[in-house]
Parts: sequence; C-alpha cells; structure tokens
Amino acid sequence: MKHLKISAVLQQPDLVGQTVEVKGWVRSRRGNKHVQFVALNDGSTIKNLQIVFDMSKFTDDDMKQITTGSSLRVTGELAASQGKGQTCEVQAAEFEVYGTADPADYPLQKKGHTLEFLREKAHLRPRTNTFSAVLRVRSAMAFAIHKFFQERGFVYLHTPLITASDCEGAGAMFQVTTLPLDKLPRTEEGKIDYALDFFGKPTALTVSGQLEGELGATALGEIYTFGPTFRAEKSNTPRHLSEFWMIEPEMAFYDIADNMDLAEEFLKYCIQYALDNCKDDLEFLAEHYDKDLISRLEFVLHNDFVRLSYTDGVKILEESGRKFEFPVHWGTDLQSEHERYLVEEHFKKPVILTDYPKEIKAFYMKQNEDGKTVRAMDVLFPKIGEIIGGSEREADYDKLKQRIDELGIPMKDMWWYLDTRKYGTVPHSGFGLGFERLLLFVTGMANIRDVIPFPRYPKNAEF
Ligand code: 4AD
Ligand code: MG
Repeated sequence: MKHLKISAVLQQPDLVGQTVEVKGWVRSRRGNKHVQFVALNDGSTIKNLQIVFDMSKFTDDDMKQITTGSSLRVTGELAASQGKGQTCEVQAAEFEVYGTADPADYPLQKKGHTLEFLREKAHLRPRTNTFSAVLRVRSAMAFAIHKFFQERGFVYLHTPLITASDCEGAGAMFQVTTLPLDKLPRTEEGKIDYALDFFGKPTALTVSGQLEGELGATALGEIYTFGPTFRAEKSNTPRHLSEFWMIEPEMAFYDIADNMDLAEEFLKYCIQYALDNCKDDLEFLAEHYDKDLISRLEFVLHNDFVRLSYTDGVKILEESGRKFEFPVHWGTDLQSEHERYLVEEHFKKPVILTDYPKEIKAFYMKQNEDGKTVRAMDVLFPKIGEIIGGSEREADYDKLKQRIDELGIPMKDMWWYLDTRKYGTVPHSGFGLGFERLLLFVTGMANIRDVIPFPRYPKNAEF
C-alpha cells in the first residue's frame, strides 16, 4: 500500500471506512490512559490529521517515542470524526516511528514561537504552520507566474547569473573571483591583474537579467526570466534581501502603456491565483498575522491602478502638509514612506508612477522629449511600496550611446547591448517584479526574511 498525503485523505470523504497509510511529523500528542490523540502533519496542508490510539491496543512504552517532532508511519481505518474542526481521523492499528525527537532539546516544542526566534531556526521552521503555509503559497505563486506567461506565449529565457556588466549601475554587486585574495596578482602599474582571473576580467553575480532579456525580446518577441538576483546593498530593512528572486518580462513592440497594462494584469492574475488555490493557507495567515489580508487582496483585484507621473506625485506629497522623515522635492528619489503615503493615504489604491527624473533612474530607459525625464514606471502597493520597477527602453542607438557615455559606463562592456539598437532596433519595454515583495503582499507577512526559506542579508548566510 502506498501512503497517502494528508491533504488527499482530508479531501476524500469516500475513503471513510477504508484502511489508509499516512506518514508525517508529530505536532502534538495528548490524551489519557484510555485514548491518546496525535496530531500528524506531512506538509501537504495546513491541517493536521488526527490519529486516535485506543490504549487497550497499545502500551505506554509504545507511545513514549511519539513526541512533538518525531516522524511516524501509521496505518488504520479512516473514520468520520466527532471532534471539532476535523471531518475524519485515523484509528491507529499499527505504527512505526522513523525518528524520535528528544523533548529535552527539540526546538519547536510549543506553539507560538516568535518569528525572530524561528529565523534563528530556519533549518526547522518549515515544520511550523506559518512557514509551511508561506512556502506552499510561494510554490503556488511560482507556478502561477509560469502559467501566466506560458498561456500568453512568452518564452522563458534563462539569463546568466555570473556577469561582467552592471545592469542597474548601482554598483551593489557581489564580485566573483578565483584569484587568491591574500596574494592578488598585480600588473606593472600595481592594479589587480584580472587577466589572470577565471574569466579573464572582473565578474560579479547579476543584479538583474534585463540586459540579456532584451537580447531575447528583440529576437523572440516576448520573453520572461525568473531567477535569483543578488544585491550587495547594506539595506537592513524588512523589504530588502541580498539574494532575491526576480521575474523580468521583456517585450518587443510594447510602449510604456502596454507595459503598464501587462504589469497590472499580471499582478491581478497572481493574486487571483492565490485566492483560488491557497485558501486554507491564506486564511491561516490572515487569522494569525494580518486580519485584513483577504479583503486587501480582493480590493487590489477589483480596483484599477492609478496612473500618475512622478511630477504630479511629488506635487501631491509636497502639498500634503505631511512631515516626512526624508524631505521630498522634484528630483529626489522616493522613499517607501512617500510611496506608501500616495498609495495608502492619498489614493487608497495601487499606483503606477511614471516619467521619473533621468538622474535617479538607470541608463537604459527611454528619454522623454522634455530632456529631463525618462519613461520609467514603478508599481507601488499598499504595505510594500515599490513592488515592480520597469520602463520603456531607449531604442535609439545615438541617444542610448550618449547616455552611456555621459554616465561613464565602459563601452567595451556594452557593445553587444548596443548592437540590438544598431541592427533592427524596435520599441520595447519590460519590468521586474521582486518575487518576495509579491509574497509579502500575498501572505501578509511583515518581514521579507520570512517569505524565503533561507534568507541572505548583511551578516547572515546561515543554513
Ligand atoms: O527596480 P529594480 O532595481 O529594477 C530592475 O532591476 C530592472 N532591471 C527591472 C526591469 O526593468 N527588468 O528591481 C525590480 C524589483 C523591485 O521593484 C523590487 O520589487 C525588487 O525587484 N527588488 C528587491 N527585492 C528584494 N530585495 C532587494 N534588495 C530588492 N531590490 C529590488
Ligand atoms: Mg526600482
């Protein structure tokens, strides 16, 4: 007999009366000398399966090894349950303990550990209700993202993780080298001799797959990437990770309005997918962390995003009379307090802010006629701030080259990118969605370190 997942057992009322085999980890055991109840969970659902041990058939010695955290195989008849909160339970006939978990030192003894405590136990926290729920939602969202793009004929493009170019120009890259750091080879001028490095030049982990994504879009039409990206910013915030996953669609023949339409449709699709497919987990997370979660998700689904220029957004902020920690005026980069004011207090809706000053945006964005702004778009969400960053791309060879020169980006690194503008250039656009920011929104969790299994952030690369 092949064992059944607990999710399958709980979903099939016609199994009642039959013998089933289940396997999982013990969440708790309680009872008396006549009957004992074990809550078993195998990670397939937020719900535990109750196993009933009739103590006329088992000894106290049998039961001793069944403690919180131990792993079990149980067979027995599935019976309709009288108990509150469950439809059925297993009447244990026979069981086997795979592994014990000593109550004296198993860290997840009691319910209700703090999230901070669990972050230190990230190797075991997937065994908690909270993290198993988050990780199931994360998996479902990854699938929804592929489904959305595949249904629309986008090609999934794998872009490199090791790169010699800095897409965002922020300089926050993790260097990749095999040079001996304690004995760096030097050129005659005393500079580090990268000719001797593994790739023969300086390389780093990518901050974005966009530049290669554009190579794909200008050949395949519509592509998307979905992979890890790395940023060595010293941002110790609840919204930043040093290693995060990004989804970057890039589309030939899209202008910025097409790009905004796609971003809005895409976000709503993911949220709808979560509501349709992760109901039990979302209800659990709502109950324990964020009472307004489901209504906030539905609110975003049923409202058009506001579309507004940066210039108009800054005007609203200046006229708000609000005292911000970071003062705001035309030309400043917006902080999350500004973004959240626009979204949560002024419009009370998601906002797509466009046409930012060129000085605060990356070199590749399409320049507007005014000579001051570029065709950027940031999607701002309640509780999160920026969830998506994107733009229409500069498609004109001369303008792009001029911007690259102005910013002092070495041409020798960029020749291949410029070739897309030299040969059969097309208007095109794209954006990047931070996967963990989407998960923050969908799960209602407050800290980005709690929506990725093993978070990387300054001074932490444990597990
Ligand atoms: O705005 P960003 O830096 O844009 C890009 O990288 C573009 N190349 C995207 C594109 O147009 N193809 O990053 C995009 C998104 C942000 O909106 C945010 O959601 C997320 O990535 N993000 C982070 N998420 C977690 N931790 C960090 N340190 C992040 N930095 C950006
Ligand atoms: Mg951005």
